[in-house]
Amino acid sequence: MDMAVSTRPLDHVADFPAIPEGWSYLDTAATAQKPRPVIETIARGYSETYATVHRGVYQRSSEMTLAFEAARGRVARFIGARAADEIVFTRGATESINLVARSWGGANLRPGDRILLSTLEHHSNIVPWQLIAELTGAVIDVAPLTGDGRIDLDAMAAILTGRHRIVALAHVSNVLGSVLDARRAAELAHSAGALLLLDGCQAVPRMPVDVAALGCDFYVFSGHKLYGPTGIGVLWGRSELLEAMPPWQGGGAMIDMVSFEGTTYAPPPARFEAGTPHVVGVLGLEAAIAYVEGIGVEAIGAHEAALVRETREALSSLNSVRLFGPDDSAGIVSFALEGVHPHDIGTILDESRVAIRAGHHCAQPLMAHLGVDATARASFGVYNGPRDIEALVRGLERVRRIFG
Ligand SMILES: Cc1ncc(COP(=O)(O)O)c(C=O)c1O
Repeated sequence: MDMAVSTRPLDHVADFPAIPEGWSYLDTAATAQKPRPVIETIARGYSETYATVHRGVYQRSSEMTLAFEAARGRVARFIGARAADEIVFTRGATESINLVARSWGGANLRPGDRILLSTLEHHSNIVPWQLIAELTGAVIDVAPLTGDGRIDLDAMAAILTGRHRIVALAHVSNVLGSVLDARRAAELAHSAGALLLLDGCQAVPRMPVDVAALGCDFYVFSGHKLYGPTGIGVLWGRSELLEAMPPWQGGGAMIDMVSFEGTTYAPPPARFEAGTPHVVGVLGLEAAIAYVEGIGVEAIGAHEAALVRETREALSSLNSVRLFGPDDSAGIVSFALEGVHPHDIGTILDESRVAIRAGHHCAQPLMAHLGVDATARASFGVYNGPRDIEALVRGLERVRRIFG
């Protein structure tokens, strides 16, 4: 990690019209604020250049189709995919995981087959597997965590058997910020004959991702956590896997030929993109990737790592703060204040114009493991700086005064 970068904060707050002076937005893990180039791209997409894609014979639609498919290529390059056709646009990471569970899982899971998840997964990477396990008779196993809140890969190695068909893990935990050793996870999954799906929601905004180097089989993320619009997400899958997968939703755009005698389907990615896509969302996602690449994902990661270090140091100097997750967590710090419910922390911080998340973070099994029903969570983005940590600490001191 480049210390020169990490000690000289990036300060891109001026690019974000939704962040007024004096407001500390510390909830990027839930959703990132949008920089001006993304907002302008969306506005232009709905004004000067708007048209549908793939179907129009007129010039506007052909141009929009070219832009839409160029964006797919940009997403592919951003995560090191071999080809644009390996990128499926979805509504978000949740839909991407449901797609894989329903399509790949429905076609490949048999009674007694096993799916391996971990204790720290987001509900989006648990419930779709529970639904398909119920339909197919597959069984879910859960890899435990190490003491500092990482997925325990040694324990995972001991759990894996020849009956495991897929392992699905968060690349970065949305609660603890812990980073998975994804290459090792891929080696372990593959040596048991299983595939690896990585939930990259919290990884793509803060670290370079190269799916080929990671060795995974599926990778998913959401546009809105990457400074892009809501309603657009990505599923990357190795082309031979996508080609063998059946459709999961039917409709326009995903077919080859339709008749009442029988319908044939388009090749991927169109096979998995039924209906009119989120055309402008795709353009917004491309603008978000351009924005992030303009700053440099590594620089963003280093910047957030420095903020995490400072936050953990500052919070551990306050009495009665419990910090969760490892010291080198990526961009996310979860904590608790003895005797104060996280919702009260969040509400009182809000009065001091500090926005954090309080709750179970869609990770109830992890909350049960931590022995709490909720945590307070501060998470960072390119617009945060030391002033936000100072505001957080001042706000927490006020919380403690109020609660005596
Ligand atoms: C790790 C992780 N996985 C999945 C999701 C679900 O993302 P979305 O709601 O955008 O589909 C989130 C969102 O909080 C997340 O942090």
